Amino acid sequence: MTSEAHQTAAQASRVYAEHFITEGDAARQARAAAGRLGLTAVTSGAAQTLTVLARLIAAKAAVEIGTGAGVASLALLQGMDPQGILTSIDSEADHQQAARSILAQAGYRPRLIAGRALEVLPRLSDGAYDIVFADAEPLEAGEYVEQALRLLRSGGVFALYHALLDDTVAQLDNLDDETLIVRETLEAVRDMDGVLPVLLPIGDGLLVLVKA
Ligand SMILES: C[S@@+](CC[C@H](N)C(=O)[O-])C[C@H]1O[C@@H](n2cnc3c(N)ncnc32)[C@H](O)[C@@H]1O
Repeated sequence: MTSEAHQTAAQASRVYAEHFITEGDAARQARAAAGRLGLTAVTSGAAQTLTVLARLIAAKAAVEIGTGAGVASLALLQGMDPQGILTSIDSEADHQQAARSILAQAGYRPRLIAGRALEVLPRLSDGAYDIVFADAEPLEAGEYVEQALRLLRSGGVFALYHALLDDTVAQLDNLDDETLIVRETLEAVRDMDGVLPVLLPIGDGLLVLVKA
């Protein structure tokens, strides 16, 4: 295969993997609402990864940073224990309103907290959560890791979306503020004691770590 043909085939594989699982009606509605609000939701493959992670650890208590219109909220809830509680934070009330209505139609009642992540997170209890997922402000990625490690129980999982930030993180000569912060956060996590990380090239990149 020529390198151009290989690139095309690799791209086709990525698209195939992203859409390997067909999303249900509620996810499609949340995605449409995200589009109307001008938000970039997690991709279908990233959403399914969140569902699988939540199911693997039988998550009962989850924190989401950046509700948006609820695509990832729904994915987390679909993997969590049916009695589980998702606490989701967003600074924009209209985003949470859209998410609340779509999630209610799907039978879920998450605890939605309106506010800026770095003001709300410190109010949540230490070691009380099974999974924390962040998709809000890339410039705060380092603080999200710090807060997540405090909030998670031992064996809990943290996931950070946009970990490849539109393919800029891997371009080492790109020193834009957001890119630099996300790259430095990934490297800090990679070198940290007491965590088991992996960087998945799904969607816009999903950093996943397990807290020891
Ligand atoms: C890309 S959207 C999240 C999309 C969501 N993950 C999904 O898949 O549907 C990012 C959300 O984070 C919120 N946000 C941005 N910065 C924030 C901050 N500092 N604190 C709380 N929410 C924030 C935005 O209002 C927006 O709703």
